Amino acid sequence: MESALTARDRVGVQDFVLLENHTSEVAFIENLRKRFKENLIYTYIGSVLVSVNPYKDLEIYTKQHMERYRGVNFYEVSPHIYAVSDNAYRSMRTERRDQCILISGESGAGKTEASKKVLQYYAVTCPASDQVQTVKDRLLQSNPVLEAFGNAKTLRNDNSSRFGKYMDIQFDFKGAPVGGHILNYLLEKSRVVHQSHGERNFHIFYQLIEGGEEDLLRRLGLERNTQQYQYLIKGNCPKVSSINDRSDWKAVRKALTVIGFNEDEVEELLNIIASVLHLGNVQFGGEDSGNAYITTDTQIKYLARLIGVDSSVLKEALTHKKITAKGEELMSPLNQEQASSARDALSKAIYGRTFTWLVNKINDSLAYQNTSVIGLLDIYGFEVFQNNSFEQFCINYCNEKLQQLFIELTLKSEQEEYEAEGITWEPVQYFNNKIICDLVEEKFKGIISILDEECLRPGDASDITFLQKLEDTVGGHAHFLTHKLADGKTRKVMGRDEFRLLHYAGEVNYNVNGFLDKNNDLLFRNLKEVMCMSENKILTQCFDREELTDKKRPETTATQFKTSLTKLMEILMSKEPSYVRCMKPNDAKQAGRFDEVLIRHQVKYLGLMENLRVRRAGFAYRRRYEIFLQRYKSLCPDTWPNWDGRLVDGVSTLVKHLGYKPEEYKLGRSKIFIRFPKTLFATEDALEVRKHSLATQLQSSWKGYSQKSKYRKLRHSAILIQAWWRGILARRRAQRRRQAADTIRRFIKGFMYRHQPRCPENEYFLDYVRYSFLMKLHRNLPKTVLDKSWPTPPPALTEASEHLRKLCMQNMVWKYCKNISPEWKHQMEQKCVASEIFKDKKDNYPQSVPKLFVGTRLNGEDINPKVLQTLGSEKMKYAVPVIKYDRKGYKARARQLLLTSNSVVIVEDAKLKQRIDYSALKGISVSSLSDGMFVLHVLCEDNKQKGDVVLQSDHVIETLTKAAICAEKINNININQGSITFTVGQGKEGIIDFISGSELLIAKAKNGHLSVTAPRLNSR
Ligand SMILES: Nc1ncnc2c1ncn2[C@@H]1O[C@H](COP(=O)(O)OP(=O)(O)OP(=O)(O)O)[C@@H](O)[C@H]1O
Ligand SMILES: [Mg+2]
Repeated sequence: MESALTARDRVGVQDFVLLENHTSEVAFIENLRKRFKENLIYTYIGSVLVSVNPYKDLEIYTKQHMERYRGVNFYEVSPHIYAVSDNAYRSMRTERRDQCILISGESGAGKTEASKKVLQYYAVTCPASDQVQTVKDRLLQSNPVLEAFGNAKTLRNDNSSRFGKYMDIQFDFKGAPVGGHILNYLLEKSRVVHQSHGERNFHIFYQLIEGGEEDLLRRLGLERNTQQYQYLIKGNCPKVSSINDRSDWKAVRKALTVIGFNEDEVEELLNIIASVLHLGNVQFGGEDSGNAYITTDTQIKYLARLIGVDSSVLKEALTHKKITAKGEELMSPLNQEQASSARDALSKAIYGRTFTWLVNKINDSLAYQNTSVIGLLDIYGFEVFQNNSFEQFCINYCNEKLQQLFIELTLKSEQEEYEAEGITWEPVQYFNNKIICDLVEEKFKGIISILDEECLRPGDASDITFLQKLEDTVGGHAHFLTHKLADGKTRKVMGRDEFRLLHYAGEVNYNVNGFLDKNNDLLFRNLKEVMCMSENKILTQCFDREELTDKKRPETTATQFKTSLTKLMEILMSKEPSYVRCMKPNDAKQAGRFDEVLIRHQVKYLGLMENLRVRRAGFAYRRRYEIFLQRYKSLCPDTWPNWDGRLVDGVSTLVKHLGYKPEEYKLGRSKIFIRFPKTLFATEDALEVRKHSLATQLQSSWKGYSQKSKYRKLRHSAILIQAWWRGILARRRAQRRRQAADTIRRFIKGFMYRHQPRCPENEYFLDYVRYSFLMKLHRNLPKTVLDKSWPTPPPALTEASEHLRKLCMQNMVWKYCKNISPEWKHQMEQKCVASEIFKDKKDNYPQSVPKLFVGTRLNGEDINPKVLQTLGSEKMKYAVPVIKYDRKGYKARARQLLLTSNSVVIVEDAKLKQRIDYSALKGISVSSLSDGMFVLHVLCEDNKQKGDVVLQSDHVIETLTKAAICAEKINNININQGSITFTVGQGKEGIIDFISGSELLIAKAKNGHLSVTAPRLNSR
């Protein structure tokens, strides 16, 4: 098989057509069994899907499964109801032909479930807008409602559909489901009043009683106990484990709302359901005369209220019948039995008509339009019970019709295909069941016509007379038999009140009892009249007044059914069919149990072997050239990877390469036909092998491709990033250039206008100059007070610069002063005094500046103690060795000069040679040259003094500064140019002459003056 997806899919064959031993029923059933054991419930016979009820939830209906089948070729995936659904959908879309899916099989085989799966598939996979969503919801929600009212628990199926259903799903041109329409067939009304043992009435009754809210039940006059209702106890089966009436009730209530029922309509619908239950509880007593009377008045009260009719009218109608005698209408009383059957007839009529109304109501909500449709037929399968009645007769007649349609369509299409493809076709023998259909439905001669005749004819017609009539009319028919006509052996298994039909699917004995009544479906006129009076809006629609005035007899049930079936056949014939054949694996509703006898029976009556035979008579396998080539082209080097020529030539080349023998295949116009499955299997196996090498090739090229595209992507991204980044950089550079150009331009312009008052042209330049001056200043501020450097300010900042300079200096001075020590301060003070006295006046002053002044140049030990003793308490402030020059001969003598707090003292060793009080010190003279000579001028009045003192010190600046400070004679230091005159005593004077020379020379000159040659220093 083509798909061969997994090993599991290969269990048995997926298509019976490929079964080698196709004529063997055993092989057929074995294949079914094998697959069923593996939970593979679906198998094809060509395009017919065979489905076996698994009786358990299989994980094969998920959304992923739906997706897997969506838009995929029928044969490329394992068999599934979704594949059939999708195929029908695609054919409808591509070929614009209406489709129908015919689901058949016996009760409990899974027809309804299959139809729901189809509906769900469309609801999920078809495109949808909001409006379509509503339709989808309604389509889906119509199921629970119809199932509540039309399904019941039977011995065969806990949710058995007791009506036939054909549903059109409509699609717009986009393929979205936009509407729907339902046709219903022959509801099993008798179930309303009677159920066989172990069966139940329609679900809705139990749902209402179990799930209905308290006040709803009160309003309807119902009790929450199904055992209270005569119509619900006949089968003695109130509870079913697989059914939850309460939750079903909720689902139904919700579904009614989705479908578009308003509260009033729901209420009226429930009134009807309740009234049927009350009607069932209406009991009759019998008077002596035999006339019936009602014994249950409360029921009548409820009934009258629920139906909306007068209770006395209702009472009379239930116990009388209207007859017309000699043109006059009379009310004739009924006996107890008649009243009971009249009551039951009313119940059936009410329920049956309400059901039809419900279907119409759903149809209204589904907005039917004339577009493409897919029809879905879920109709009762062939039924053979112990006791078969009118219903089974109708149902099996329906199945005969469907079988006929099936044969017609499958054979026809097969035949048409061969013709279309130009392949010679050998006709296949098959059983044509037209003969049985004719037996049932033929005008005047058919069983239905005979039944109708018996129902209509005046006189004592009964079920038995009907049987006799049948014997008389169709007794000779090959497919008809009665007890009377049968041979001895058959008689043993037939009752006298039965007739047998030899259906295509098997023999069925029908018991004629009840045939006439059921066919007549009589409801007394007066009961109809009462119903027409009802205030319940649904009932007034169900019971039309025109019916009362219509003198024509209503059509019998069988004729109505026949007509509706004919219409159904027309509908189906106009569409392209797909078949789903459902089977039940066992009668116990058990999962995993495969009852071969039961299956064989179904294989037979579903005509599956015949179906297979027809299909296999020609070719086991056919496929369009493009599909065949596409699948197998890898097996031939000429067709791989692509075939460029005509498809037929490609296929021909391929099959020749594969070694097909001429008798194994035929080439049609657009398809290849393969006669034997084994040919195809061999090809499939070759493909399996080839796939592995192809997979490796594919993998490597895919890996290469994906790496390459990854690389390309990366490269592209890198280039993109680069380009962006370059762009950003270029933009930034351009911006910087622009700014720079602007700045330069402004700068030049500013420079040109720099001398003008501030204006827009020069403000930038001026600001810049200021800024750069301030920045330069900031970087080059003087670090010490002695550093006098200061940048030249621009004209505009001259004043500010001066302020800043002062501030800076103040700041440095302040800082300097803050850090100055007392000793240093003292030193500086002395230096200041020295500066004041000598600066720019004496040559050797600059040399003295960097040399610190010392406290004293002679310490205590350098001075004779006697001198110190002599000085007594007088504090010595400074002492220095000096040279004293005699006033007359200018002889140089080493002396010590001491400065005390009061006087200047000249000391020679231990001798205090001269003491000059500061008050007597008139002044001190020095030369302007670099020598160390100085003269202490003493007041002449002081007679103790011998005159002025001529001295020489190596530290003349220091010595004189200290002396000036001690004596407070700062202003009395005279600096002389050329010579100094000094007093020698007694009015005489001496003179010292100073000249510059190369070295210091002190000597008495010829003129009697002291001549001092002072060395020339660089500074001067
Ligand atoms: N595909 C399935 N998967 C799981 N369970 C299923 C499937 N089909 C059917 N069944 C089970 O079988 C039961 C009977 O199926 P369904 O009601 O579809 O039968 P039917 O053919 O419609 O019978 P009837 O003719 O009595 O209406 C379901 O209630 C469900 O439990
Ligand atoms: Mg069903």
